[in-house]
Amino acid sequence: MIWHKFKIPEQAGVFSIDIAGKKLCLVYQSGQPHIMSSKCPHAGADLSQGWCEEGKLICPFHRHAFDIRSGRGNPGQGNYIKTYPTKEENGIWYVGIVKPWWHIF
Ligand code: FES
Repeated sequence: MIWHKFKIPEQAGVFSIDIAGKKLCLVYQSGQPHIMSSKCPHAGADLSQGWCEEGKLICPFHRHAFDIRSGRGNPGQGNYIKTYPTKEENGIWYVGIVKPWWHIF
């Protein structure tokens, strides 16, 4: 896993961020960042255009909801989004991204 720096937003909300060539979604709530895939598995909407409600990221297209910690979709949706680990060291935040195995060669 490679840890990439990212900047904490100045206020709570849902944001789009680019990390290592990936467009990801950053949800900043209660002083805690959560980073996840920005592509909705239902029909491909950009989840960074959505909003956060009671710990769930809501898709702006058809309102599928995903837990911001686990990425799990609400019961009945049958889907999920990928989430990425974050850590803070000396005031700097990092997100961990696994390098795909085909990058080894
Ligand atoms: S595209 Fe996200 S719920 Fe349909």
